Amino acid sequence: MSEPSTTRRQVLLAGTAALGAVAVSGWGTASASPVRDPFTLGVASGDPWPDGVVLWTRLAPDPLAPDGLGGMPRRVVPVEWQIAADERFRHVVRAGVEFARPESAHSVHAEVSGLRPGAEYFYRFRVGNQLSPVGRTKTAPRPGARLDRFAFAFASCQNYPEGFYTAHRHLADEDLDLVAFLGDYIYEGSAQGSIGRGHSPAAETFTLADYRVRLAQYKSDADLRAAHAAFPWAVVFDDHEVENNWAGDHSQPDTEPDQDPVVFRQRRAQAFQAYYEHMPLRRAQRPSGPDIRIHRRLTFGDLADFHLLDTRQYRDVQVAGDARLDPSRTILGAPQKEWLLRNLAGRTARWNVLAQQVFFSQRDFTAGDADSFSDDAWDDYYVERNLVRDHLARASNPVVITGDVHASYVADVKADFEDPASATVATELVGTSITSGGDGTDQNSGDAVQLRENPHIKFINRKRGYVRNVLTRDSWTADFRIVDYVSRPGAPITDRARFVIEAGRAGAQQA
Ligand SMILES: [Fe+2]
Repeated sequence: MSEPSTTRRQVLLAGTAALGAVAVSGWGTASASPVRDPFTLGVASGDPWPDGVVLWTRLAPDPLAPDGLGGMPRRVVPVEWQIAADERFRHVVRAGVEFARPESAHSVHAEVSGLRPGAEYFYRFRVGNQLSPVGRTKTAPRPGARLDRFAFAFASCQNYPEGFYTAHRHLADEDLDLVAFLGDYIYEGSAQGSIGRGHSPAAETFTLADYRVRLAQYKSDADLRAAHAAFPWAVVFDDHEVENNWAGDHSQPDTEPDQDPVVFRQRRAQAFQAYYEHMPLRRAQRPSGPDIRIHRRLTFGDLADFHLLDTRQYRDVQVAGDARLDPSRTILGAPQKEWLLRNLAGRTARWNVLAQQVFFSQRDFTAGDADSFSDDAWDDYYVERNLVRDHLARASNPVVITGDVHASYVADVKADFEDPASATVATELVGTSITSGGDGTDQNSGDAVQLRENPHIKFINRKRGYVRNVLTRDSWTADFRIVDYVSRPGAPITDRARFVIEAGRAGAQQA
């Protein structure tokens, strides 16, 4: 494999610099202005389809303003956008105007269509004479069209007070078609940490204003903005976008007013609204009160189908012990489960990717004959997990990608997790956190127990980073890219391990 290219970022930087000096496509020159920069949160694109993407920005000259309005006046502001075939915008192919509204925190979601499949584009926004940074994006190849290579990274868990986003800086330098973010984009708590990145607001988030400020604070990080500007993202949330370990209409057990499900649904509605406002999501993902449709599918030629799941909104509450075996328990909810099983049966792409949040494979934490499992993972929804596994087994080259646990794992998904000799029917790749957990370590003492008790688990590492994946017709190569520290900036990125899945043979082999 070639070394990651810095070409993309150099192009972006050159494009941005050029805006300062060169007259461009009728938008004049970017000049110094007495007005404060409204584009402090950067730009993003997401959910690439063959004919287009969604372009995102939010106007916020004062992103941490406690009222959550980002320093914007309470009026509608027109925002122009352009998308071009070249980074200097000599060949603008689509342009339009969106209206940034105070009730949406002046966020902009421009769904662009009419683009060419599998093509690279550059985009930017303008308000008055203020130009945004330039973003780069890429449409998906047509479903079914022959595609020989697809490169994407997945990442999760970027607790702001626990580290610098060095991994995002390196992610922005990769050469990728997509970034999948698998949840914990923000954390809801009040933590201040010890590295000068204390949470704003300095209390747990409950209101719409709180969640807006928190999301804006995370987006104020230049490394995160660079990773968004470099590639289209496909995002799903996990628990911390609302509250730790929430399940359906239920808060985690605590002493807060949201123990009442009516109150919790109000909190969830505020969290979802702010989440949507800050993510490059299409209108179909716009929340309606406490409900949001986040599960969806993205297809890349004949090579990959991404089934993006929601393992929070429809799940039953967590239970202890053998109650997890109750066959009526669900983590997906019936409609999403039917949707997923139907999709798995009907898809023809070479690789079927379950892009989701929590650990899918069995994971026994207790040495010896006794066992114990996470009550927040698929193990707590035992029968439904095994049902999904059995359908995965019949799909073409199934790979589950996972976040949540702040560690890298590779696991064989077994036809029977109790029988190591049973067939391997799918592969699970678990990505570590961007920062959550701080600097991290290679392995801890509990990992030796996990590896012994779960022979289908082949790799564990607890350093921070992300997973870079290159899919071809014959193989899936996963590089577990890590940084040695996040407690200060500047760590280089290194490959901790490479695993390869051969098409037609489930299970990853260390290369
Ligand atoms: Fe997390």
